[in-house]
Amino acid sequence: MEHKKINIAVDGFSSCGKSTVAKGLAKHLGYIYIDSGAMYRAVALHALRKGWITETGMDKEALQQHIGDIAITFKTNNKGEQETFLNGENVEREIRTLKVANGASRVSTLGFVRHELVRQQQLMGKEKGVVMDGRDIGTVVFPDAELKLFLTASPEVRARRRFDEMTAKGEDPLFEEVLANVKERDLRDTSRTESPLRKADDALELDNSHIGIDEQLQWAMDMYHKITATT
Ligand code: DC
Repeated sequence: MEHKKINIAVDGFSSCGKSTVAKGLAKHLGYIYIDSGAMYRAVALHALRKGWITETGMDKEALQQHIGDIAITFKTNNKGEQETFLNGENVEREIRTLKVANGASRVSTLGFVRHELVRQQQLMGKEKGVVMDGRDIGTVVFPDAELKLFLTASPEVRARRRFDEMTAKGEDPLFEEVLANVKERDLRDTSRTESPLRKADDALELDNSHIGIDEQLQWAMDMYHKITATT
C-alpha cells in the first residue's frame, strides 16, 4: 500500500550513526535525505575562509551582516551520494575536517545562524517526504514530524567510530584527542542556550552502542511501519 508521505526527524549526538540510519530510511522509502549538520558546517567554512572564526574568537557581527550571502545547496553525484555546495562550489570534502566540525559547533550556538538555517530546512520539508538528521529536527525544525528518532551511543564508542573513519581516510589521529573532541562537542551541543540538543518528548530512542547498521535500519523501518499503520 502506498502511504501518505511524512517527515522523519533523526536526532542525536555527533558521530552516533544518524546519517547512516537517515540515508538508509530515505533510500528505502524514496524520500529526500537532508544532512542539516552539513549546513552548519558550510556556514562555518565560509566564516573560516573569511577570517571571522579564529583560534580565539568569532566576529559575530560580520557573520550576521553577511549571512544572506551564504547559499547552501545539495546535489546527488553519479554514485548516488549527496554532496554539499557553498555558493555553487562543491565543499563536501572540506566540510568534513575536524577544523570545520569545531567551527560548526561554534557557529551553531548563534541564534541568527540557527534562525536562518531552520527557515531553509522548514522550506525543504514543506512538501513532506523528507528524512532530516541533526540535533533539533524533532524539537525545532519539524516539531510536527510524524516520526522522530533519537540515537545515542557512548562517547567511547562514537570516538572509536570517528577514529576508524579518519584512519580509513589515511589520517593519523590520536584516539585520546578524538575522544576529547567528541566530549567537547557533546557539551557544547547540549549546553548552548539556543536550541540545545535534547530528545523530543515524543521521539523514539535507540542506544546503538552495541548493534549493527542492518539492525538499526530494521528498527527504524519497523518504527516507520508502526507509525504509518496508524496514520
Ligand atoms: O552532525 P554534524 O557533526 O555534521 O554537525 C555539525 C555541528 O552542527 C555540530 O556541532 C552540531 C551542529 N548542528 C546543530 O546545532 N543543529 C543541527 N540541526 C545539526 C548540526
